[in-house]
Amino acid sequence: MASVLVLSGSPSKVSRTAALADFIVRRLVADGLAARHVALRTLPPADLVAAHAGAPGIAEVVAELAAADGLVIVTPTYKAAYSGLTKIFLDLLPQSALEDKAVLPIATGGSLAHVLALDYSFRAVLHSMRARHVVQSHFVPDSCFLKTDGGYEPDETALGPLFYAAFDEFRRSVHAHEHFRSVDFVRSLVPSATKV
Ligand SMILES: Cc1cc2nc3c(=O)[nH]c(=O)nc-3n(C[C@H](O)[C@H](O)[C@H](O)COP(=O)(O)O)c2cc1C
Repeated sequence: MASVLVLSGSPSKVSRTAALADFIVRRLVADGLAARHVALRTLPPADLVAAHAGAPGIAEVVAELAAADGLVIVTPTYKAAYSGLTKIFLDLLPQSALEDKAVLPIATGGSLAHVLALDYSFRAVLHSMRARHVVQSHFVPDSCFLKTDGGYEPDETALGPLFYAAFDEFRRSVHAHEHFRSVDFVRSLVPSATKV
């Protein structure tokens, strides 16, 4: 079964970004993928800041990412860029941590004025980490969230067709990776097949 790690990078306890990450996990699981959301704010802060990738609590997430076929990374827009919490986590990973993976970058934000931050800065970081396929990124404005008793919930209709198109492209890319991984596995069992 293909697996996806979903990371959210908001420092806020009550977070639209985390609510969107939960929503994405529910959809991925409904589509038959294994998926889990890790809110980066729940990782041990001192170890995060000191880039202790092997620290308890962080090492498990790093290993889960290494084993995943895909990564959805959801960040709030802060000062016209991704959040510092998101960057601190990416910085403690190896340079090739996204090698062979499909990646879906998503940003939440208060103003459409900063939509391009996704493509000008966030996308470049993800490519530098050797992602196989960074699919169309998507910006989700605060107007797409409904207030609930406990926090926020994305308004499924307001998310709009472009959100679902990016999601579907990501899902196809994850399945393609799963396919190639199994072909590589068969090739490793039959050395002569590698000549094909
Ligand atoms: C410190 C800070 C800086 C922000 N800077 C921007 C910004 O530059 N552009 C923007 O569109 N939204 C900005 N916002 C709004 C947030 O991106 C937006 O409300 C987001 O949904 C918050 O996510 P959260 O609820 O998960 O914390 C900022 C919010 C904060 C707290």
